[in-house]
Amino acid sequence: MLLFLLGWLLAQPAALADIDPADYALKSSISSEKERKRMQAEFDADKIREAELQRQQEEIEAQRLAAEKTAWEALPYPVRLTRTRCTVCHVADYYINLRHNRIGWELVILRMQYLNAAPLAAGERSTIAAHLTETYPVTGDAALIEALLQLAVAFSPLWLWLAWKITFSRIGKNAKQSFHS
Ligand code: HEC
Repeated sequence: MLLFLLGWLLAQPAALADIDPADYALKSSISSEKERKRMQAEFDADKIREAELQRQQEEIEAQRLAAEKTAWEALPYPVRLTRTRCTVCHVADYYINLRHNRIGWELVILRMQYLNAAPLAAGERSTIAAHLTETYPVTGDAALIEALLQLAVAFSPLWLWLAWKITFSRIGKNAKQSFHS
């Protein structure tokens, strides 16, 4: 049985394909000078091929970088500014699922500046906010809700003042009434 298996294996050149015939050539041929020269030439050719391959890979990499640079430069300025300023801490498109109106985006960036110390030069916030509002605008019911919330926040001192006025006038009235009676 074992012999049969061995015979079968030997009859299968494909099964032994992972053994390189060159390995055998190495041992048996060193003796002859001609063979040595042939191997040297093969070795040199290999080295040249390898260098050529490396050169090609470097060229492909350089082309890739150049293409990337061109693509980057083709992007509008606000897009580039947003990526450079905001990807210091976030991955690009961190805000891909967020929707805000202009005020909402201004507030997000303001929070980044004052809470998280995001460095922005003068004027950059409005450029980024405009870009984000255009790219990730709030729509539908969410737009209404956001606007109402902002209004409520913006006018909250007014509400306080009104509440105070109303309370004060009541107290005043009560005081007058008690004075006259
Ligand atoms: C210095 C680091 C830093 C930079 C730069 C930065 N952020 Fe942030 N950002 C944070 C941190 C920390 C959080 C999480 C805490 C928080 O929400 O304040 C965050 C959270 C956020 C959130 C999610 C919170 C939310 O309101 O839903 C958004 C959106 C965001 N950043 C947008 C931006 C944009 C746009 C810029 C570019 C102007 C920016 N960030 C630049 C640090 C940074």
